Amino acid sequence: MKKPESMVVLTGAGISAESGIETFRAKDGLWANHPVEEVATPEGFARNSQLVYRFYNERREQLMSEEIKPNNAHSALAKFEHDFGGSFLLVTQNIDDLHERAGSKNILHIHGELLKMRCSNSQIVFDIRESFDFDTHCQCCRSPGNLRPHVVWFGEMPFHMNQINMALGACDIFVAIGTSGNVYPAAGFYQNAKINNAQTVELNLEETGSTFDTHIYGPASQVVPRFFEELLTL
Ligand code: APR
Repeated sequence: MKKPESMVVLTGAGISAESGIETFRAKDGLWANHPVEEVATPEGFARNSQLVYRFYNERREQLMSEEIKPNNAHSALAKFEHDFGGSFLLVTQNIDDLHERAGSKNILHIHGELLKMRCSNSQIVFDIRESFDFDTHCQCCRSPGNLRPHVVWFGEMPFHMNQINMALGACDIFVAIGTSGNVYPAAGFYQNAKINNAQTVELNLEETGSTFDTHIYGPASQVVPRFFEELLTL
């Protein structure tokens, strides 16, 4: 593998699994206990907003708890970005803030962020670290009923797609970490990078049936530090 000059990294729930945050599609994962159509679609929110508020309030409370911390994979990514010297973009499907807490800088949350809420009226985005619901007043409209999680639900447009597509066209290596490759457009990013002759590497606990150039299997907290330390020695 030649020394890269421009890198795009995509992370999924698998990078946060060893920090104690459930993934989505494991047999006991989030979607096994919470039907997607009820808690992760605009229709579900319109049907029963309190259920959706509660789902995200519970996940936010968990994220804010003492025991949830970045793991060695998050730290290795932040260290690599600091030492790399080339252009580096971290695209995450995760809505947690573990990459930020580990020190990563150039991050795009393609599916939004658990610690942000949005006014559906003004589209203004606010930081939020506690629970909120239908009765919470937004600072813009000063009335209840307009606030929703700043999270991309199924059927909604992911964020930052123009910037991501530009970066995929310019990178010489694309690395996916801890994602099952079930959800587009993120699942197709490696093919976009491949079209532009980038090397594509998948770091995951198990096979995903994808056609990356290179697959490295194992827990992220072990394979990610090893892979990025080696990359720096090229
Ligand atoms: N280390 C590395 N990979 C792991 C680990 C680990 N410790 N634990 C689990 N994995 C892998 C699993 O093998 C699986 O391939 O992480 C992947 C997690 O897959 P999903 O649960 O489908 O999560 P993700 O790919 O991030 O889902 C993408 O789907 O539902 C939407 O918005 C949601 O952002 C999410 C998107």
